Amino acid sequence: MNDKSLEWSDKFSTDIVSLDSQHQELLFLSQNLLSVLSDMNVSLADKQAAFQDLVEHTVAHFAYEERIMRNIGYPALIRHTKEHDDLREEMSSMTESVMRGEGIEDWKGLVSLVQVWVLRHIVASDTQFREYIQREDDES
Ligand SMILES: [Fe+2]
Ligand SMILES: [Fe+2]
Repeated sequence: MNDKSLEWSDKFSTDIVSLDSQHQELLFLSQNLLSVLSDMNVSLADKQAAFQDLVEHTVAHFAYEERIMRNIGYPALIRHTKEHDDLREEMSSMTESVMRGEGIEDWKGLVSLVQVWVLRHIVASDTQFREYIQREDDES
């Protein structure tokens, strides 16, 4: 990654290996997408494919994370799912314009917003899940 502020750091860690590696993958795919979007030599179809790749991994990650939270009876699941819903909705409306090839000059700004959203969500909400698991462990 060329932007130092977007490198993986311990403050993003949930202490759940599978979630951390999916979060790292989302960061990588979003950085990759930003560089693909800036590259004049990349075709529209390849830009759309890089976008789809990020969307698919995000959707799969949210479903996976919600499944884990549901399985252990995480009390903040509904609130957490609503946060995911916000980005799922945002991404699905973005997908429509991306697939039509419209507003290409706006994509980078949108992807940056998604990236900031994901990082903020990981730090503010996914790591609360880590604290919940740690408390449960301490009490048992
Ligand atoms: Fe989450
Ligand atoms: Fe997450």
